[in-house]
Amino acid sequence: MPMTPSPAERVDDLRRQIAQANRAYHELDEAQIPDVEYDRLVRELEALEREHPELVTADSPTTQVGGRPSGRFAEVRHALPMLSLSNAFSDEEVADFVRRIDERLKRGTLRFSAEPKLDGLAISLRYEGGRFVLGATRGDGSTGEDVTANLREVNDIPKQLLGSGWPDVLEVRGEVYMARADFEAFNAKARLHGGKVLANPRNGAAGSLRQLDPKISAQRRLSFFAYGTGDVQGGELPDTHSGTLAQLRAWGFPVSSLSQVVEGSDGLLAYYRSIGGQRDDLAFDIDGVVYKLDDRAGQQAMGFVARAPRWAIAHKFPAQEQSTTVEAIEIQIGRTGAATPVARLAPVAVAGVIVSNATLHNADQIARLDVRVGDSVIVRRAGDVIPEVVSVIADRRPAGTTPWQMPAHCPVCGSEILREEGEAVWRCSGGLTCPAQRKEAIAHFASRRAMDIDGLGDKYIETLVDAGIVRGVADLYRLTRDQLLHLKLVLDAEGPSELAAALKLHLPAEGSGAVLNAVLRLDGHDAGWRAQALSQPTAFEWNTKKIATKWADNLIAAIDASRTTTLERLLFALGIEHVGESTAKALAVWFGDLELIRYLPWPLFKRVPDIGGEVARSLGHFFEQAGNQQAIDQLLQAGQVRIRDAHAPSAKLREGLDLAQVLVEAEIPGITRLRAEKLVAALTTAQAVLDAEHGQFVNAGLPEDTARGLAAWLDTDGHGPLLLLAEQKLHELLAKAPQQAEQAAGVLEGQTVVLTGTLSALTRDAAKERLEALGAKVAGSVSKKTSFVVAGTEAGSKLEKAQSLGVAVWDEDQLLAFLAEHE
Ligand code: IVH
Repeated sequence: MPMTPSPAERVDDLRRQIAQANRAYHELDEAQIPDVEYDRLVRELEALEREHPELVTADSPTTQVGGRPSGRFAEVRHALPMLSLSNAFSDEEVADFVRRIDERLKRGTLRFSAEPKLDGLAISLRYEGGRFVLGATRGDGSTGEDVTANLREVNDIPKQLLGSGWPDVLEVRGEVYMARADFEAFNAKARLHGGKVLANPRNGAAGSLRQLDPKISAQRRLSFFAYGTGDVQGGELPDTHSGTLAQLRAWGFPVSSLSQVVEGSDGLLAYYRSIGGQRDDLAFDIDGVVYKLDDRAGQQAMGFVARAPRWAIAHKFPAQEQSTTVEAIEIQIGRTGAATPVARLAPVAVAGVIVSNATLHNADQIARLDVRVGDSVIVRRAGDVIPEVVSVIADRRPAGTTPWQMPAHCPVCGSEILREEGEAVWRCSGGLTCPAQRKEAIAHFASRRAMDIDGLGDKYIETLVDAGIVRGVADLYRLTRDQLLHLKLVLDAEGPSELAAALKLHLPAEGSGAVLNAVLRLDGHDAGWRAQALSQPTAFEWNTKKIATKWADNLIAAIDASRTTTLERLLFALGIEHVGESTAKALAVWFGDLELIRYLPWPLFKRVPDIGGEVARSLGHFFEQAGNQQAIDQLLQAGQVRIRDAHAPSAKLREGLDLAQVLVEAEIPGITRLRAEKLVAALTTAQAVLDAEHGQFVNAGLPEDTARGLAAWLDTDGHGPLLLLAEQKLHELLAKAPQQAEQAAGVLEGQTVVLTGTLSALTRDAAKERLEALGAKVAGSVSKKTSFVVAGTEAGSKLEKAQSLGVAVWDEDQLLAFLAEHE
């Protein structure tokens, strides 16, 4: 049994822990323990000192403010000390605060200035003759650090006061802070580039102000709020605190618009609740509110205790940071395949919400923090941002932990998890086959610029996928009108009993009893009840007289309309990473044929202008996944989807679709087209190339180091099979590809068209597509080279420009007539 420490021992221990935390917080700008734990230590020490006055010492942390200056900056002695605030954590403590003032001043109803308590760094700004001359940190309260140069980079801080009537010397006190958006943006960038990530906005503000290089402050966007004054000479300030804040605002200082004058403890508590309710929506972190007796004479009468005024108090909110332990680290696959590591935590209340999961962002972030299963960590939850693990409490790490590693396979579908060079994000390569990515993949497939299945919104997709009715994009083409009618009823119903009532109306009496019973058994509180209800059999005749069938009819029509499509749309619809509309178009134009594309050895994609290694590899990965190929098979099978514009690959491309070119596109240093052709001619087959020794490469005409480079490339995983596939497939593919040449040049070949204003009979995208099909280039801006402009209603500057340049202008009717004639 550990011995209970004596009060003197406990006091020593608490002082040591507090001193250590103070040093980390004020001098190193990083928190070792969460603020709540710090507050707990201080409160325990205060209580012990109250009970045992003999243990109070002059240097106890309870009588001190902040930290000692670091020595890196010039010291500044504050003309008036910069104080701290006492804290209240409950309504009773607030009532006590008001009562103490009441008892001493006996003035009746008390007025207070109530303000948000920003979580940043306290700063004193000195103005002489209206000009900013000196800025200092709080330091230990009497001596701070001269950070004038850094503060000059903070836009919010006036360098010259506005208006007139300012005192000769004016010290303004306030908080330098980092807005949440600036903090998030800074970290997002740091995570992308592997830079230092800030644990919280406070550390961001403090760390940046205490950099020796002011350029760093300039890079981290900092903000400022004024909340009071220090030394004032040669002038007067209003005799209330609220009046002073208004005056500061007039002189050009940002003052929180949330500040308010309120009366009595009821007013204070109402203010606390109101600000608490807005906390998550504010642009910056606050850790509480501050109440200050508004009347300055009253403030003077109240005076100070050791380190804080008696006329003000901070009323704290639940902390945004807490410590807890990591029970597991799991991978979550997002809708785009991004693998995000998530910490499963021992549940802990953070800012009023129980948190048991927190994001770790990505593998780099875990490595940077070295988070391990079993670690004590600090979690932060601020605003509506997902809770995150911000740091590990190093000295609480248990023995026997091991560094974390990204798993090799997707926990949802088992496909490989891969990361591209230089990228922070790992992704599941399962694509359409990974259930985690399915909904997003289907939504993209159906979207306007892809297969354009109008009316299939996210919530329909969600329920259809959850019910197991749509498992992949091909299933969209098997949806029946009855299924859609059922879906609509399920989504419109509030709960199972309402759905059962609706079904009763629409289902014929025979056979429906079992379905209704099954539906009624579903638990309405379970988020999945809709999916379960939808998976009930629906093989009956619907009583369509009583049901709104228009939506289902329209959707079926939209699905049918999408069955005949272009290669470009289908390629874009597949949602291959890095393959946007323009890449899809380039692939369609150059290859002309899906069969060729889906089996092409990936290095050959680089034959297409503008397709580089990254896109080529991504295409390769996509088509390597059996599930993706299966999905394409299902789409094409039985003519579910038909590509209407298949054509032979361009002649130029066709020339280079051979084994030699695979070696060229592999970018092995020194391998030119000529050398690759000679090599393949000498060794004759892919297998022979694979079996050959480096000496044979030299005999076939390769220089020494090129031969070595080739041997190394061939030894790398995956390259052997690629060559074999290239040899076997290319002949076959080219033989099978459509033989007719590319489409004949359209009537608008070589012409540039600009669309502007609103068209009524067709959308801009449709107009663009049809003009392009006739060979036109559709551009975004008008120039002398523009062949003609199509102007809809409310056309603006582009129409004017066309008129001023003398460019032909067509109206919509002319366009429609032209299309009708030439398509
Ligand atoms: S007044 C003598 N007002 O909180 C009164 N402080 O815990 C001194 N703070 O050092 C402070 N917002 O850094 C005051 N509206 C506000 C504040 C505020 C944030 C910070 C400030 C201070 C600390 C005390």
